[in-house]
Amino acid sequence: MIDLLDALAADHAAVRAMIAEVFANPGRRRALYPQISRALRYHSDAEEKTLYQALGAYPQETADIDRSYDEHGALDNILRELDATAYGDPNFMDRFAQMNTMLEQHLVPEESRVFAAAGQLLDASTRRRLGAQYERMMHREGATVSDQHRYSNPCRTCQPQPVGLVANVKQALKNPTESGRPRWHSLVGIWPFLSKAK
Ligand SMILES: [Fe+2]
Ligand SMILES: [Fe+2]
Repeated sequence: MIDLLDALAADHAAVRAMIAEVFANPGRRRALYPQISRALRYHSDAEEKTLYQALGAYPQETADIDRSYDEHGALDNILRELDATAYGDPNFMDRFAQMNTMLEQHLVPEESRVFAAAGQLLDASTRRRLGAQYERMMHREGATVSDQHRYSNPCRTCQPQPVGLVANVKQALKNPTESGRPRWHSLVGIWPFLSKAK
C-alpha cells in the first residue's frame, strides 16, 4: 500500500506536468484542461477526506486545515469559471495562469508545512491505510482522475476499469488531438469533460 503522502505528492507532480504542457503548448488545452480540472477536484476532495480529516484530531493543525479548505474552495471556484470559458476565448489562458498561481500558492505550503506535520503526527501504518483509501477515491466511477499517471506510469493500485471505456474511446477518436491521432492516456475517464461542447 502506498503512503498517503507519496500518493498526494505524485498527484501534485502529475497535475503540474499537465499544466506545464498547456503553458508550453496552449493548443493542447482542449485535450488536457478537462483532465486537469477533474484531477484537481477529485484530489482536493479525496485529500480532505484522508489527510485533513486525520489531521483534524490535532488542534495545533486547525489553522492550516482551515486555510487549505478555503484554498480548495477558491480553486474550485476558478475551475468553475474556466469550465465556463470557451477554449477559444482570449481570456482562457489568462484565467488558466491565474488558476495556476492560486494552485501553487496552495501546493507549496501544503507540501512543506502540512505534509511535514502529517509525517510526524500520523504513523506509517495510518499513512498507508489512508493512502489506500485515497487511491480508491481517486479511482471511483471506474475512471481514475489521475489518468495522467498512466501515461507515465502504470496505475499504482488497480487496472483500468472497463466501465465507460468503449464510449470514451469512441469519443476520443471523434476528437483526435492536433496530431490527428488520439493519445491513449486520454481514452479513459474524460467522458464528462469531452462531452462538454465549447
Ligand atoms: Fe494536495
Ligand atoms: Fe490541497
